[in-house]
Amino acid sequence: MGDSRETFGPKAFVTGFPIKHSRSPLIHGYWLKTLGLPGSYRAHEVAPGGFADFIHSLKDGSSGFTGGNVTIPHKELAFRLADKPDALSQELGAANTLWLEEGALHATNTDGRGFIANLDERHPGWDRHGTTVVFGAGGASRAIIQAVRDRGFKEIHVVNRTVERARELADRFGPRVRAHPIGALAEVMSGAGLFINTTSLGMDGEPAPQLDFSPLAADAVVTDIVYVPLKTPILAQAEEQGFPIVDGLGMLLHQAVPGFEKWFGQRPVVDAPLRALIIADM
Ligand code: ATR
Repeated sequence: MGDSRETFGPKAFVTGFPIKHSRSPLIHGYWLKTLGLPGSYRAHEVAPGGFADFIHSLKDGSSGFTGGNVTIPHKELAFRLADKPDALSQELGAANTLWLEEGALHATNTDGRGFIANLDERHPGWDRHGTTVVFGAGGASRAIIQAVRDRGFKEIHVVNRTVERARELADRFGPRVRAHPIGALAEVMSGAGLFINTTSLGMDGEPAPQLDFSPLAADAVVTDIVYVPLKTPILAQAEEQGFPIVDGLGMLLHQAVPGFEKWFGQRPVVDAPLRALIIADM
């Protein structure tokens, strides 16, 4: 406080429960500072029972916020309570970015755009085969399936321990998306150009499975949405087996871009110092 850039200008939030481990304040704070813009972005913890009241205070202006990010467990309710959810968030049934415009609360979901932008930046040509294996069928998997489908992928194989969850996603996202049990992993990997881990396997403290990537296309790319550690056990194995890898940190950074632009009026850039800042905080 005491910094006039924070006192004046738009005020944005990230809300979730819990929220103290969120890296979003670091990301948006970096952009506000480097772009020299007035405004603030801070973590605002809201317990599940209080989220509807928080949204009301946002809509009637009493919260003082112009918009913000929403994370677990509020993404579904954020979508339902928005006045103008866009087509992306409607199909997902979840929103992670909110903003007020002419008195209406707008909502979108930027996770898929973050995923695509990260691969476009780190490994141009990643989409050339148009076939992918998505490992996992949780919340994070949805936005990614939507994004690769909208990118024009023709075969999207979703493999999940609980196959019913994969089937639900195949029903939701249409005929190019197919559901498989874990036992079918090697078979569906055959010739695929992209492998995406969306499960929590290999996240700090989680057990890591041994995966054989050899059935993939020779020039296939392996990516993971987990970014702590940066090189997850799944990525380390893929690299050892000779495949190019793309870590998940860039997805986190790029998904933040559209919200920042809405609230603060300038499109920020994901650059190397920002990446280094987040890595230093891990
Ligand atoms: P998120 O919203 O972050 O994607 P989630 O909804 O809890 O989180 O999903 C976690 C994903 O990791 C799921 O696909 C889960 O498989 P299930 O749907 O069968 O639960 C997967 N996952 C977690 N632990 C796993 C394990 N030990 N083996 C296989 N898959 C696992």
